[in-house]
Amino acid sequence: MQDLFILDECIRKGSRSMSPTDGNSAANFMPAQRSLGALRQAAATCRGCDLYKAATQTVFGEGRKRARLMLVGEMAGDKEDLAGKPFVGPAGRLLDEALAAAGIDRKDAYVTNVVKHFKWEPRGRRRLHKKPSRYEINACLPWLEAEIELVKPEVFVCLGATAARALLGADFRVSEMHGRFVESDWARHTMATMHPSAVLRMRDHASRERARKELTVDLAEVARVLGS
Ligand code: URA
Ligand code: SF4
Repeated sequence: MQDLFILDECIRKGSRSMSPTDGNSAANFMPAQRSLGALRQAAATCRGCDLYKAATQTVFGEGRKRARLMLVGEMAGDKEDLAGKPFVGPAGRLLDEALAAAGIDRKDAYVTNVVKHFKWEPRGRRRLHKKPSRYEINACLPWLEAEIELVKPEVFVCLGATAARALLGADFRVSEMHGRFVESDWARHTMATMHPSAVLRMRDHASRERARKELTVDLAEVARVLGS
């Protein structure tokens, strides 16, 4: 039996009540026609917050229109910004491996991020990932909401704390709740698990392997629900 945690409605909705106060957000760039293609095209010229200025391009979600599984990360990274595709860098490789180990074909999932532009700061010649602010997250959420509305996933997985807090409540703790199904507005089955980048950031080999195993176990639970 799956565990079902009923989250307080207010906590769950909390993040959405904090929309940008200057009135600008992705909502101002929504196309009239709601298809994934139209959304992707409109998002390419989004100016809903300032992140587009330093980024190469919008990294929109990717996958089947009727995918039963949606995976949501935090924000495009350096490699994703250059490729214009989500999870194609080192974190993406680890995600692919964990999915495969859990028996899930990435091609069957719709993969996206909460924030569609890469936020970074220069560190020598490298572009260092910077955490998106609450303001930027809320400005960008309309894209994700539109993606969810169209794909209508049965299983919805938040990868890491940023996605989990934005979508499941500001108090959500991935460390405590990962791997458990919780109730949400987003899909019939919702779960948060570790972000693949968090696995990669672990200091020593043993912790990294432990975290990788945890991620795989959580995704195997996702595979079980998809198979049932
Ligand atoms: N990290 C994310 O959260 N998303 C990506 O697409 C890549 C890295
Ligand atoms: Fe628009 Fe999101 Fe990019 Fe901000 S981060 S400009 S809201 S697509």
